[in-house]
Amino acid sequence: MLHKIVRIVEQAGEMIRCAHDVERDTVEKGTPSDLVTKYDVAVQNFLHRELMALRSDADFLGEEGEHAQLTQPWVWVVDPIDGTANFVRNMGYSNISVALVHNGAVEYAVVYNPFRGDMFAAQRGKGATLNGKPIRVSDYDAAHGLVLCGSTLYDRDLSDRHFAMMRALYDRCADFRRFAAAALDLCHIACGRAEIYFECRLRPWDFAAGSLILTEAGGYVVQLDGSPLDVLGNSSIFATNAVCRDELEAVRGL
Ligand code: IPD
Ligand code: CA
Ligand code: CA
Repeated sequence: MLHKIVRIVEQAGEMIRCAHDVERDTVEKGTPSDLVTKYDVAVQNFLHRELMALRSDADFLGEEGEHAQLTQPWVWVVDPIDGTANFVRNMGYSNISVALVHNGAVEYAVVYNPFRGDMFAAQRGKGATLNGKPIRVSDYDAAHGLVLCGSTLYDRDLSDRHFAMMRALYDRCADFRRFAAAALDLCHIACGRAEIYFECRLRPWDFAAGSLILTEAGGYVVQLDGSPLDVLGNSSIFATNAVCRDELEAVRGL
């Protein structure tokens, strides 16, 4: 199953890697920071067709369009383009994110950045890989660590909390990065490129796949109050390697 999902996501990756005239086809979904392109819709339609052919008894939860009630034990959770704002501005830094969830637990996960050729994949209990090679989190402590974060762009009511957390973590870490594609942030922790990632609110398609890739690589991910993620609902995110796990205590009450 994992191999089949990887093949499908590779094809979807070609759709966005070869995209042109993206800016002309961009529409705001309500605010200037919430964008959708014809490629988000085309990639989701492609993934819907191909993934439902793999497991037709599953529900499908994709970012674009209507979100139907989930009634089945299996659910495909799909972000056709994570990092749409990067895609629109031709940054060459976006990904396709696919998770197959069973009874609320992610069983298979694929996150692919076609611009860099980074294919992250994981199956529950079988480890995580980058381009077929096993990956592990780093053993850097916070003082030597890179912190990745969101920016509450869709939830500006949470921005005070977000920037208070940045302020607190800034004094405890080596530096920050804001790359603007949540699924890849989780994968960067998974393969040891960074140590901590937080975001005050994400949707299931942003984090479902990346969360399994991270935990299969030896990392940790919980909500900001320490509770487990709800992979079919909105969640806050605090993700780390094993060494930085307790850094949550420095920001939990903010
Ligand atoms: C967004 C990106 C961004 C994160 C937002 C997400 P989108 O996804 O992952 O990094 O900060 O919370 O919604 O809109 O580009 O699919
Ligand atoms: Ca997303
Ligand atoms: Ca998206």
